[in-house]
Amino acid sequence: MGLLSKIFSNTRKPEGFWGRMMVAGMNGGSHAAMASWGLSFVNIPEVGEIIDIGCGGGGNLNRLMERSLHANVTGIDYSSVSVEKSRKVNADAIAAGRCKVLEASVANLPFEEDTFGMATAFETVYFWPEIEKSFAEVMRVLSPGGKFLIVNEDDGLSGNNEKWENMIEGMHTYTPDELKTHLTAVGFRDITVHCNASKHWLCVTAVK
Ligand SMILES: C[S@@+](CC[C@H](N)C(=O)[O-])C[C@H]1O[C@@H](n2cnc3c(N)ncnc32)[C@H](O)[C@@H]1O
Repeated sequence: MGLLSKIFSNTRKPEGFWGRMMVAGMNGGSHAAMASWGLSFVNIPEVGEIIDIGCGGGGNLNRLMERSLHANVTGIDYSSVSVEKSRKVNADAIAAGRCKVLEASVANLPFEEDTFGMATAFETVYFWPEIEKSFAEVMRVLSPGGKFLIVNEDDGLSGNNEKWENMIEGMHTYTPDELKTHLTAVGFRDITVHCNASKHWLCVTAVK
Protein backbone atom coordinates (compact mmCIF):
# COMPACT_ATOMS: atom_id res chain seq x y z
CA MET A 1 0.00 0.00 0.00
CA GLY A 2 1.43 3.41 -1.00
CA LEU A 3 1.75 6.25 1.51
CA LEU A 4 -1.19 8.21 0.07
CA SER A 5 -3.38 5.13 0.16
CA LYS A 6 -2.33 4.51 3.77
CA ILE A 7 -3.16 8.10 4.74
CA PHE A 8 -6.51 8.29 2.91
CA SER A 9 -7.66 4.90 4.19
CA ASN A 10 -8.20 6.83 7.40
CA THR A 11 -11.25 8.44 5.81
CA ARG A 12 -12.82 4.94 5.88
CA LYS A 13 -11.76 4.12 9.43
CA PRO A 14 -9.56 6.65 11.24
CA GLU A 15 -6.82 4.92 13.23
CA GLY A 16 -3.54 6.03 14.88
CA PHE A 17 -1.65 9.24 14.07
CA TRP A 18 -3.00 9.76 10.52
CA GLY A 19 -6.51 8.94 11.72
CA ARG A 20 -6.29 11.68 14.36
CA MET A 21 -5.05 14.14 11.70
CA MET A 22 -7.91 13.11 9.39
CA VAL A 23 -10.73 13.56 11.93
CA ALA A 24 -9.38 16.97 12.90
CA GLY A 25 -9.53 17.96 9.21
CA MET A 26 -13.05 16.57 8.76
CA ASN A 27 -14.57 19.25 10.99
CA GLY A 28 -13.58 22.16 8.75
CA GLY A 29 -12.96 23.03 5.13
CA SER A 30 -15.13 21.60 2.39
CA HIS A 31 -16.86 19.16 4.79
CA ALA A 32 -18.34 22.06 6.77
CA ALA A 33 -19.63 23.92 3.69
CA MET A 34 -21.06 20.75 2.19
CA ALA A 35 -22.72 19.68 5.44
CA SER A 36 -24.44 23.08 5.73
CA TRP A 37 -25.56 22.79 2.10
CA GLY A 38 -27.03 19.33 2.79
CA LEU A 39 -28.74 20.41 5.99
CA SER A 40 -30.52 23.19 4.09
CA PHE A 41 -32.73 20.53 2.41
CA VAL A 42 -34.36 19.17 5.58
CA ASN A 43 -36.40 20.45 8.48
CA ILE A 44 -34.48 19.36 11.52
CA PRO A 45 -36.78 18.13 14.29
CA GLU A 46 -37.06 20.57 17.21
CA VAL A 47 -37.55 17.77 19.73
CA GLY A 48 -36.92 14.03 20.01
CA GLU A 49 -33.86 12.04 18.98
CA ILE A 50 -31.47 12.45 16.03
CA ILE A 51 -28.66 10.04 15.10
CA ASP A 52 -25.58 10.97 13.05
CA ILE A 53 -24.01 7.78 11.68
CA GLY A 54 -20.28 7.79 10.93
CA CYS A 55 -19.97 10.99 12.93
CA GLY A 56 -16.18 11.34 12.39
CA GLY A 57 -14.85 14.39 14.24
CA GLY A 58 -18.30 15.33 15.58
CA GLY A 59 -18.68 18.65 13.77
CA ASN A 60 -22.09 17.67 12.43
CA LEU A 61 -23.37 16.69 15.88
CA ASN A 62 -22.72 20.28 16.83
CA ARG A 63 -24.34 21.61 13.64
CA LEU A 64 -27.47 19.53 14.29
CA MET A 65 -27.77 20.83 17.86
CA GLU A 66 -27.32 24.42 16.67
CA ARG A 67 -30.20 23.94 14.23
CA SER A 68 -32.65 22.27 16.64
CA LEU A 69 -34.03 23.81 19.80
CA HIS A 70 -34.34 20.72 21.98
CA ALA A 71 -33.60 17.49 20.09
CA ASN A 72 -31.03 15.13 21.59
CA VAL A 73 -28.26 14.05 19.25
CA THR A 74 -26.44 10.69 19.22
CA GLY A 75 -23.28 10.14 17.19
CA ILE A 76 -22.06 6.69 16.32
CA ASP A 77 -18.85 5.65 14.62
CA TYR A 78 -16.94 2.36 14.46
CA SER A 79 -13.60 4.16 14.83
CA SER A 80 -12.43 4.77 18.41
CA VAL A 81 -10.39 7.74 17.11
CA SER A 82 -13.56 9.35 15.70
CA VAL A 83 -15.50 8.64 18.89
CA GLU A 84 -12.79 10.22 21.03
CA LYS A 85 -12.66 13.38 18.87
CA SER A 86 -16.47 13.68 18.69
CA ARG A 87 -16.69 13.42 22.47
CA LYS A 88 -14.02 16.12 22.88
CA VAL A 89 -15.63 18.52 20.39
CA ASN A 90 -19.07 18.10 22.00
CA ALA A 91 -17.95 17.81 25.63
CA ASP A 92 -20.25 20.60 26.89
CA ALA A 93 -23.36 19.14 25.21
CA ILE A 94 -22.46 15.67 26.52
CA ALA A 95 -22.11 17.07 30.04
CA ALA A 96 -25.47 18.82 29.64
CA GLY A 97 -27.09 15.50 28.64
CA ARG A 98 -27.99 16.60 25.12
CA CYS A 99 -25.43 14.57 23.20
CA LYS A 100 -24.06 11.01 23.31
CA VAL A 101 -21.33 9.40 21.23
CA LEU A 102 -21.03 5.61 20.96
CA GLU A 103 -18.59 3.27 19.24
CA ALA A 104 -20.68 1.07 16.96
CA SER A 105 -21.09 0.06 13.34
CA VAL A 106 -24.03 0.96 11.16
CA ALA A 107 -24.28 -2.79 10.53
CA ASN A 108 -25.54 -3.34 14.06
CA LEU A 109 -26.94 -0.19 15.67
CA PRO A 110 -27.32 -0.59 19.44
CA PHE A 111 -30.83 0.92 19.57
CA GLU A 112 -34.42 -0.24 19.72
CA GLU A 113 -36.53 0.08 16.61
CA ASP A 114 -38.41 3.38 16.04
CA THR A 115 -35.96 5.36 18.25
CA PHE A 116 -35.00 8.31 16.03
CA GLY A 117 -36.94 11.04 14.23
CA MET A 118 -34.02 11.69 11.91
CA ALA A 119 -30.82 9.93 10.81
CA THR A 120 -27.95 11.66 9.03
CA ALA A 121 -24.95 10.26 7.15
CA PHE A 122 -22.33 12.74 5.93
CA GLU A 123 -19.49 11.47 3.76
CA THR A 124 -19.78 7.92 5.07
CA VAL A 125 -22.14 5.68 3.06
CA TYR A 126 -19.26 5.06 0.59
CA PHE A 127 -17.74 2.78 3.24
CA TRP A 128 -20.79 0.99 4.64
CA PRO A 129 -20.90 -2.79 4.39
CA GLU A 130 -23.64 -4.47 2.33
CA ILE A 131 -25.38 -1.19 1.59
CA GLU A 132 -28.97 -2.46 1.58
CA LYS A 133 -28.48 -4.26 4.91
CA SER A 134 -26.97 -1.03 6.32
CA PHE A 135 -29.91 1.03 4.98
CA ALA A 136 -32.34 -1.52 6.45
CA GLU A 137 -30.64 -1.04 9.83
CA VAL A 138 -31.12 2.74 9.54
CA MET A 139 -34.75 2.12 8.61
CA ARG A 140 -35.20 -0.12 11.68
CA VAL A 141 -34.08 2.55 14.18
CA LEU A 142 -36.05 5.39 12.52
CA SER A 143 -39.57 6.00 13.72
CA PRO A 144 -42.40 5.95 11.13
CA GLY A 145 -42.20 9.18 9.14
CA GLY A 146 -38.58 9.63 10.24
CA LYS A 147 -36.18 11.22 7.77
CA PHE A 148 -32.86 9.91 6.44
CA LEU A 149 -30.38 12.47 5.07
CA ILE A 150 -27.35 11.36 3.04
CA VAL A 151 -24.75 13.95 2.00
CA ASN A 152 -21.79 13.00 -0.21
CA GLU A 153 -18.99 15.17 -1.56
CA ASP A 154 -18.84 13.10 -4.75
CA ASP A 155 -21.94 12.10 -6.73
CA GLY A 156 -20.18 9.25 -8.51
CA LEU A 157 -20.35 11.22 -11.78
CA SER A 158 -17.43 13.58 -11.23
CA GLY A 159 -14.78 11.46 -12.92
CA ASN A 160 -12.74 11.63 -9.69
CA ASN A 161 -14.46 8.71 -8.07
CA GLU A 162 -12.28 6.01 -9.63
CA LYS A 163 -9.14 7.65 -8.28
CA TRP A 164 -10.54 7.57 -4.73
CA GLU A 165 -11.99 4.07 -5.07
CA ASN A 166 -8.59 2.77 -6.24
CA MET A 167 -6.83 4.48 -3.35
CA ILE A 168 -9.27 3.54 -0.55
CA GLU A 169 -10.05 -0.16 -0.26
CA GLY A 170 -13.74 -0.98 0.03
CA MET A 171 -14.94 2.50 -1.04
CA HIS A 172 -17.85 2.85 -3.44
CA THR A 173 -19.02 6.26 -4.68
CA TYR A 174 -22.76 5.92 -5.28
CA THR A 175 -24.55 7.72 -8.09
CA PRO A 176 -27.96 9.29 -7.34
CA ASP A 177 -29.68 6.40 -9.18
CA GLU A 178 -27.80 3.76 -7.21
CA LEU A 179 -28.75 5.37 -3.91
CA LYS A 180 -32.38 5.66 -5.00
CA THR A 181 -32.44 1.98 -5.99
CA HIS A 182 -30.94 0.77 -2.69
CA LEU A 183 -33.15 3.05 -0.55
CA THR A 184 -36.26 1.96 -2.43
CA ALA A 185 -35.29 -1.73 -2.09
CA VAL A 186 -35.45 -1.52 1.72
CA GLY A 187 -38.70 0.45 1.74
CA PHE A 188 -37.76 4.13 1.99
CA ARG A 189 -40.24 6.45 0.28
CA ASP A 190 -40.36 10.10 -0.87
CA ILE A 191 -36.75 9.91 -2.04
CA THR A 192 -35.48 13.29 -3.22
CA VAL A 193 -32.13 14.00 -4.85
CA HIS A 194 -30.36 17.37 -4.73
CA CYS A 195 -27.17 17.94 -6.72
CA ASN A 196 -24.67 20.73 -6.82
CA ALA A 197 -23.73 20.26 -10.46
CA SER A 198 -20.52 22.31 -10.44
CA LYS A 199 -19.10 20.72 -7.29
CA HIS A 200 -20.65 17.26 -7.80
CA TRP A 201 -22.02 17.31 -4.24
CA LEU A 202 -24.97 15.00 -3.66
CA CYS A 203 -27.73 15.13 -1.05
CA VAL A 204 -30.47 12.51 -0.83
CA THR A 205 -33.41 12.64 1.55
CA ALA A 206 -35.78 9.74 2.20
CA VAL A 207 -38.63 8.96 4.57
CA LYS A 208 -39.50 5.78 6.53
C1 LIG B 1 -14.97 10.56 5.77
S1 LIG B 1 -15.46 10.35 7.45
C2 LIG B 1 -16.83 11.49 7.60
C3 LIG B 1 -17.04 11.94 9.02
C4 LIG B 1 -18.17 12.94 9.24
N1 LIG B 1 -19.45 12.34 8.98
C5 LIG B 1 -17.97 14.17 8.40
O1 LIG B 1 -18.70 14.39 7.44
O2 LIG B 1 -17.06 14.95 8.70
C6 LIG B 1 -16.26 8.78 7.45
C7 LIG B 1 -16.58 8.30 8.85
O3 LIG B 1 -17.50 7.20 8.74
C8 LIG B 1 -17.10 6.21 9.66
N2 LIG B 1 -17.61 4.90 9.21
C9 LIG B 1 -17.31 4.26 8.06
N3 LIG B 1 -17.94 3.08 8.00
C10 LIG B 1 -18.67 2.97 9.12
C11 LIG B 1 -19.52 1.96 9.64
N4 LIG B 1 -19.70 0.80 9.00
N5 LIG B 1 -20.13 2.18 10.83
C12 LIG B 1 -19.91 3.34 11.52
N6 LIG B 1 -19.09 4.32 11.09
C13 LIG B 1 -18.47 4.15 9.89
C14 LIG B 1 -15.57 6.29 9.68
O4 LIG B 1 -15.01 5.70 10.83
C15 LIG B 1 -15.35 7.80 9.61
O5 LIG B 1 -15.28 8.39 10.88
